[in-house]
Amino acid sequence: MRTQVAIIGAGPSGLLLGQLLNKAGIDTIILERQTSDHVLTRIRAGVLEQVCVDLMDEVGVGQRMHHEGLVHGGFDLLFKGQRHRIDLNRLTGGKNVMVYGQTELTRDLMDARKASGLSTIYTAGNLTVHDFDSHQPRVRYEEDGVKGKKANEIECDFIVGCDGFHGVCRASVPSGALREFEKIYPFGWLGMLSESPPVHEELIYANSPRGFALCSQRSQTRSRYYLQVPLTDKVQDWSDEAFWQELRLRLDPKAREQLVTGPTIEKSIAPLRSFVTEPMRFGRLFLAGDAAHIVPPTGAKGLNLAATDVKYLSSALIECYEEKSEAGIDHYSERCLRRIWRAERFSWWLTSLMHRFPENGEMGQKFQEAELDYLINSEAGSRSLAENYVGLPLDFGE
Ligand code: APR
Ligand code: PHB
Repeated sequence: MRTQVAIIGAGPSGLLLGQLLNKAGIDTIILERQTSDHVLTRIRAGVLEQVCVDLMDEVGVGQRMHHEGLVHGGFDLLFKGQRHRIDLNRLTGGKNVMVYGQTELTRDLMDARKASGLSTIYTAGNLTVHDFDSHQPRVRYEEDGVKGKKANEIECDFIVGCDGFHGVCRASVPSGALREFEKIYPFGWLGMLSESPPVHEELIYANSPRGFALCSQRSQTRSRYYLQVPLTDKVQDWSDEAFWQELRLRLDPKAREQLVTGPTIEKSIAPLRSFVTEPMRFGRLFLAGDAAHIVPPTGAKGLNLAATDVKYLSSALIECYEEKSEAGIDHYSERCLRRIWRAERFSWWLTSLMHRFPENGEMGQKFQEAELDYLINSEAGSRSLAENYVGLPLDFGE
């Protein structure tokens, strides 16, 4: 088998890249370890920057997002029992964010790929990548055949690792060729998706003495809530009732009163991590999305960074095919990393500001309170938060 670009992973990065390249007439095969149903069971964040919304429109799959997504012009910061609205729209000169679940976005991209008859190989087992330091890279994998496992090989011009943090592509680069930066936070997020109306029409980010809480949503009838929990906690330790009770204790009196509980659809604990790989290219192998970087979810930047990585990469690959110029692919890593480090800094900062860090002592706590006070009461402070939250334009700094 042969293709121009072999894409490993059918998460949002791989699927969006496939659509962007297809639009330019570039042939791709996507190889995914799981089934499509499995990919669609993963619940992830759901706040899209305008840049991400525009990319969905660019590849012609924005229709359902515009219909079902919720446009938010601000969010609330809860601190010392009081809520303060960060008016994103006013502070950024008219920008908003779109609340639309990553699962829905992934489904829209999958449906579009299927409708265009493009090749996606699900349940690709034992995938390995080869010869990406040459002009003839290859991907090997096992397919479930009638007589058991069947070994297959794909020849291509480029391999793109969109295979997430635990994927095979980054791990296949010779040790010493990549530099990794990592910070692990001393707590996790316990998330709950619930069949209940959201407590508030916009998101509430709560800094409470009992730890961070986030009130998010998927629709008018579906809420998504998170609690900061110790890394040692297990999901099974948290009954639904215990979750609701703890959430109430971390909210302000009005939200506590308005909170409506409902059946749980999903509950899970995720660790928080900041992680960056440099560079994001090795020969004819590129990394994009979670394969190259992880942000803590506090700033909701993970999906947005994945989307901009693949936009930059698709432009570079199109330039390479159409103009026979490698300038774009040579610049890919540097171009992405500048944006990634900006989002990494913002996500780390917002995480530091909103969570409890007992190990930082009383002094750390006082600094946090003073910073929140500044943020809320200074136009410059609020604007800086808003500017980073809505995200940078695609061509920032160019
Ligand atoms: N072979 C084939 N597929 C693989 C392999 C492998 N060896 N390893 C991983 N995969 C697949 C995973 O099963 C998954 O479907 O790669 C896909 C990676 O998808 P994501 O983890 O969703 O990563 P990405 O597409 O970069 O999306 C980034 O996801 O984690 C969130 O916050 C993050 O929103 C961001 C988004
Ligand atoms: C979510 O809706 O899952 C969500 C929203 C905002 C965040 C993180 C997660 O910052």
